[in-house]
Amino acid sequence: MISDKVRNILNEQINKEFYSAYLYLAMSAYFDEIGLYGFSNWTKVQAREEVDHGMILFDYMIDRNTKVELMNIDTPDSDFTSPMQVFEKILEHEIKVTESINRVATLSDDECDLATRNFINWYIAEQVEEEASVRDVISKLGMFGEEKASLYLLDNEFKGRTYSAHSYK
Ligand code: FEO
Repeated sequence: MISDKVRNILNEQINKEFYSAYLYLAMSAYFDEIGLYGFSNWTKVQAREEVDHGMILFDYMIDRNTKVELMNIDTPDSDFTSPMQVFEKILEHEIKVTESINRVATLSDDECDLATRNFINWYIAEQVEEEASVRDVISKLGMFGEEKASLYLLDNEFKGRTYSAHSYK
């Protein structure tokens, strides 16, 4: 039986994952507008992964026979000015998501909900990977600068990012 506190935090986490998908889609649209189609692809693939993150939580809650409550999704930030600024925003956002996942883990411990504590481990590992991949992009942008030639090369690299579905069973 999932406690009310754990149920609430899982419902909030579903909302945060779908908000993340919206945010990455807004970024994808920005990159498309400025002709960086590889960056647009990278962020669009990430948006699809965020939907998976939300759906995995959704399926878990159904499996645990607890009530899913879908909330309004906020309008995402759309104040984008450059690739570096976007990726700095992404890192800031993902750090907040990591903190949020950590709160789910801590609360599951406090509530002696070992199934949720075990389930959320996948997200803890996923956040390490996500933060690392964003830091990698920021470091490349910092190293090569944002001149057109460097952006062209990075953009071509990012065209190769492909989506592969995540699920927990
Ligand atoms: Fe689902 Fe990027 O955190």
